[in-house]
Parts: sequence; structure tokens; C-alpha cells
Amino acid sequence: MIQLFNVTKSYEREQCALTDITLQIDKGEFVYLTGPSGAGKSTLLKLICCAERPSRGQILMDGRNITQLGDRAIPYLRRNLGIVFQDFKLLTRRTVFENVSFPLEVQGRRRMEVSKKVYQVLKQVGLEHRLSHYPLQLSGGEQQRVAVARALVVDPLVLLADEPTGNLDPDVTLDIMELFKGANARGTTIVMATHDRGLIWQYPRRVLTLEAGRLSGDQQP
Ligand SMILES: Nc1ncnc2c1ncn2[C@@H]1O[C@H](COP(=O)(O)OP(=O)(O)O)[C@@H](O)[C@H]1O
Ligand SMILES: [Mg+2]
Repeated sequence: MIQLFNVTKSYEREQCALTDITLQIDKGEFVYLTGPSGAGKSTLLKLICCAERPSRGQILMDGRNITQLGDRAIPYLRRNLGIVFQDFKLLTRRTVFENVSFPLEVQGRRRMEVSKKVYQVLKQVGLEHRLSHYPLQLSGGEQQRVAVARALVVDPLVLLADEPTGNLDPDVTLDIMELFKGANARGTTIVMATHDRGLIWQYPRRVLTLEAGRLSGDQQP
């Protein structure tokens, strides 16, 4: 599903954020990306969603080389991706419904189809009664559930999550993990950056470890 071949990334005037990374993540896997702050976790996720380009090496997504994808092709790649961030990144002036429907609107889906799908996914995350609330009227955990709903509404092949539980209480963290587990059980490949060891212990999955931009570990549970 996701293949990296000798991928190196250096930002301008920086040392390498990632050095010579080669790895493969299969369809349907749930993989943690761990390592200390500054190790390159976010950079790796950004390369996979084409928010950044590798300085060297190749990245294949579903067999397709995305390394040299033109800017116009990126939205098509993103159609198959869901992305969740630590700080939610919701549109604060849009309602819950509008936030979650946004990716479908962008794809030009029909209105009826959009409403039905948004309601269905909000129900999945337990927020169907919050449709017309605004993000700031919700708790942190609820906001992250909205963000997860927005990521899942497109039925993504791959869900990328960058420390999605970093700002959440332990009980809310477990809610989010259950949602990821459900999506993974329905076939979505998940790559989640976290340095929460307890979480990895509680939900054991393959763990990729980065240290100073190098892949230092790849452990099956
Ligand atoms: N936009 C950027 N410009 C320059 N350097 C960056 C940028 N983003 C990240 N870095 C550097 O790349 C390295 C890896 O960062 P990052 O991928 O954010 O690590 P992590 O997510 O594991 O904390 C760090 O040294 C960081 O300072
Ligand atoms: Mg990071």
C-alpha cells in the first residue's frame, strides 16, 4: 500500500529530517510511528500525503509513484487519504456538519448523498446530535471525533494520524483509538505517529521507530 525506497528529506538549511528510509506498509495494516520529538515522524507523514516532497528516493502509494506527482494531481491522491492532526484543524466558523461534509463537497458529490454519508459517519463517532454545533462549543475529545469523522467520511484507503491523542485525556484517547480500530477493521490502512508508550502497550500493533531521522526499529507485536 505504502512503499518508501531510500527516502531522504532535508529542509532548507537543515540537516536531514529523514535519512535513507526504506519501508513497506501493507494494505490493512495498523502501524505506529514512534520516536522522540524531532525524530522525523511528522515529516514522514507529510511525505506520504505529498505535503512535502522527498529530497531523494521514491514513494509509492498503492503501486503508484507519488514522488513526482504534479500539483494538480495531489487532490486526487488526497481523495484516498484521511488525515487527523493533534490540534484537530477544524474550521471554527463552520458547523460540525459543514466540517465533515467539506471533503465530499470538494469532490462534488450530490447533496443527498453528502447528507446521508455525513449523518452516517457522525453517528459512528457518536456525534449525530451535534450536527449544528460549532467546534468551539464542543470538548476537545468531541472536536477530535469530528476531525476523525471528517477523515473517515471519504472511506479513505489510508488514514494518517499525527499524534491525534496528544491533547486528549486518557479516557477520550481510548474513544479515538476505538474509532481507528473500527476503521482499520473495515479495511483502512492506518499510520499513526505517537509517543504514548502506554497506548502502544494497550493496543499492540506494528511499531516503526525513528531516531534522528533514521529508521531504528520495526517490531511486530
Ligand atoms: N518546515 C520545516 N522546516 C525546517 N525544518 C523542519 C521543518 N519541519 C521539521 N523540521 C525539522 O525536521 C526534523 C524532524 O521534525 P519532525 O518531522 O517534525 O519530527 P517529529 O514529528 O518526530 O517531532 C526536526 O529537526 C525539525 O526541526
Ligand atoms: Mg511531529
